[in-house]
Amino acid sequence: MESLTISDWLLAELKQGRFPPRMPSHRRVYESIRRAIANQHLTPGTRLPSTRSLAEALGLSRNTLLAAFEQLHEEGYVISQVGSGTRIARTLPENFMASNDADKPKGTDTAKNTVGLSKRGAIAAGQTDQPSYEVQPFSPGEDDFSAFPTQLWRRLLNRQWRDPQPAYLDYGHAGGHLPLRRAIANYLRMSRTVNLTVEQILITSGTQQSIDLCARLLTDHGDRVWVENPGYWGARRVLEVNGLELHPVPVDDEGMAPDNIDFRCPPRLIYTTPSHQYPKGVVMSYGRRRLLLDYAASRGAWILEDDYDSEFRFEGRPLSSLQGMDQSGCVLYMGTFSKVMYPGIKLGYIVVPPDLAESFKRGLYELQRPGQVVIQAALAEFIEEGHFSTHIRRLRQIYKERRQLLQKALAPVSRVGARLPPAGSGLHLVVELPPHCDDVRVAELAAEQGLRVYPLSYYGVGEKREKGLIVGYAYAATERITPYGRILADVIQAALSH
Ligand SMILES: Cc1ncc(COP(=O)(O)O)c(C=O)c1O
Repeated sequence: MESLTISDWLLAELKQGRFPPRMPSHRRVYESIRRAIANQHLTPGTRLPSTRSLAEALGLSRNTLLAAFEQLHEEGYVISQVGSGTRIARTLPENFMASNDADKPKGTDTAKNTVGLSKRGAIAAGQTDQPSYEVQPFSPGEDDFSAFPTQLWRRLLNRQWRDPQPAYLDYGHAGGHLPLRRAIANYLRMSRTVNLTVEQILITSGTQQSIDLCARLLTDHGDRVWVENPGYWGARRVLEVNGLELHPVPVDDEGMAPDNIDFRCPPRLIYTTPSHQYPKGVVMSYGRRRLLLDYAASRGAWILEDDYDSEFRFEGRPLSSLQGMDQSGCVLYMGTFSKVMYPGIKLGYIVVPPDLAESFKRGLYELQRPGQVVIQAALAEFIEEGHFSTHIRRLRQIYKERRQLLQKALAPVSRVGARLPPAGSGLHLVVELPPHCDDVRVAELAAEQGLRVYPLSYYGVGEKREKGLIVGYAYAATERITPYGRILADVIQAALSH
């Protein structure tokens, strides 16, 4: 579309009135342009008319156009450069999804039709930077389900049902099933050097819910939250939906790396993954931990420590948690059973400072009405009887071997400028690609070979995103890792040699 026709088309689009009556004008402009990009009526690189000329042509205020453009820009649909105006981004957030539409299973359609939703609803449902959920070899974040001891688990569940107490059928206790909280407390004291009493633990339905609860109970609309960049989009989403202003902080070899610019923007919350930065895998250094703790304490900020996969450390001694170093009670520590048990169990926990324990219990009860007591009881026995530790040890062995095989298979990529940073933990590894490389395209090429890897740029915010691939090794069978790894290495080498 030429500039002239873009304003004509937009005028016609707005006149057609396919929007809810109370939708503000800037949102209508934003929606129209976004849809045109998704339908490829506006193609990457196309220059948009200036906000001034569009405002005149559409009979709207310039501020309306500026607000629409700003949102498009924030979500990565357009880029603005001094001297060359605003253009449709060449790397669109939806490109990758679109290329995979054909093989996406039904029910995972990520079409971003947000018409009729509230602002927060549109943020939650209109996501554009979330990778597809389809599981394929190398899908990051997937567990090896075949390693789960299903028979043993069934036995433990049956045991609970054989003599069910009435309380098992009721809503759960506010903090969660007490034997499970005790079991988790013992585990965290021993394995993660978390300082706690059982009273400080609350069972939630996973980290996503723990973050949501913290956002609701500790912040007000418009408060600022520091998030890692690149970082976990799931956390970003839930924080944003709660009306928080996201302030991305870069990540370096020592973890989250705030500088003076960041310190001038003090947050209410700091969300971080210190023991294994997601997705880069960096372990936060001691100095950085102290810095964050001292800064948070001096500013009255809360730190949300997401320790999502700390169980999978293959080399060296396990690191202590940030919570374990905290003297001033500003850390809320979160863990999940998604990675060690299975994601569908929907159980996690949060350890809150003693002063918050009672309010969090009441807040959790009012907002989310706990339940699933039988599963919590079975999990308590799974941990107490030692099966949990055995299962973790087994998974560690399996994943360690897969990781080594994958590193070996991918080693040739270092010849063409890619880098495999050393990291001794987690369920995925990162292949760093040179800054000029289109990592979305490389992920597409891998998808054509039946391999699902995620571009590192998806995890970033802003225009300068790091490039790379996130390659999960937990899901594919051990004997398939080397052949798949070689295919991926070939894809990367071919892409970087052009
Ligand atoms: C950084 C991070 N935290 C937490 C989780 C797990 O969250 P949940 O307990 O909601 O499944 C994930 C899942 O992939 C993750 O990547």
